[in-house]
Amino acid sequence: MLTNRPKTKILVDSGDPNETLRIKSLLGFVDGQTTNPSLIAKNPEIQQLIASGDTLSAEEEKNEYRKIVQSISPLVGDAGVSIEVFADLDTTAEEMLAQGQEMFSWIPNAYIKYPCTREGLRAAQMSVQERIRVNMTLCFSQEQAAAVYAATEGSKEPVYVSPFVGRLDDRGEDGMDLVRNIKKMYERSDGHVHVLAASIRTVDHLLCSFVLSAELATVPTTVLDEWAATGFPIPDQDFRYKGVDASGKLLKAIPYKELDLNLPWQSFDLAHELTTKGIQKFVADYQSTLSRSA
Ligand code: E4P
Repeated sequence: MLTNRPKTKILVDSGDPNETLRIKSLLGFVDGQTTNPSLIAKNPEIQQLIASGDTLSAEEEKNEYRKIVQSISPLVGDAGVSIEVFADLDTTAEEMLAQGQEMFSWIPNAYIKYPCTREGLRAAQMSVQERIRVNMTLCFSQEQAAAVYAATEGSKEPVYVSPFVGRLDDRGEDGMDLVRNIKKMYERSDGHVHVLAASIRTVDHLLCSFVLSAELATVPTTVLDEWAATGFPIPDQDFRYKGVDASGKLLKAIPYKELDLNLPWQSFDLAHELTTKGIQKFVADYQSTLSRSA
């Protein structure tokens, strides 16, 4: 059990309620959970259906997703359960919002995940006006995080932004720098956007998220198991994060940019190759569970 609880809220990055339960007994609590189309496609019951040749219609897939988050919902604390809309590169904000409205009604502690794209931000802007809590996902740049801030200003609920650390590391850039830069940029803000460190791959990513005072971190069970196996270390003032790849090569630093959070969100450059690729991957994983007729 984790006795020395960090300030950073800990979410389980998984589409499987059994993992939530297991981690809850390992840590003694789970603050929240994040799901996405790839994680839902990996859910053991969905995998079993597919293995028996029983692919799903889009409606059945949605019902399965609803059942999964309804099982997770009562197990987690106030960081809630993030549910991701099914969006491809052509999905409009209005279409995302319609999905978000429905998904938000599934459970009392939902956060709706929209991508950090123009349409995703438009959907978020409309959502917060209806008090739908949002988690802006596939964030790979400080500009995207600035736009999230500006688009959701006035939100009565906390808004999450999810910088994807591991996927930046994968291409040789130091993903923890993005978390650091966003936190720094938000220092002079009204605090309505909370940073949720995502795409965590190592215990060091998690510990660095604590040091950077990320409000939340979503963590795969493998990393939580590793953290538990070493006695749940909490970093002290001597902790130094070293952004290196698997071969020990230093990752490229991501420089901080001075951005004005008071500018209209449309003025920020939202384009990022990894956001586009991330959407395409979620679409592919979602479609792998669907029958051809769907
Ligand atoms: C959580 O919200 C994200 O979808 C998740 O952390 C992505 O992790 P990955 O880069 O390992 O797929």
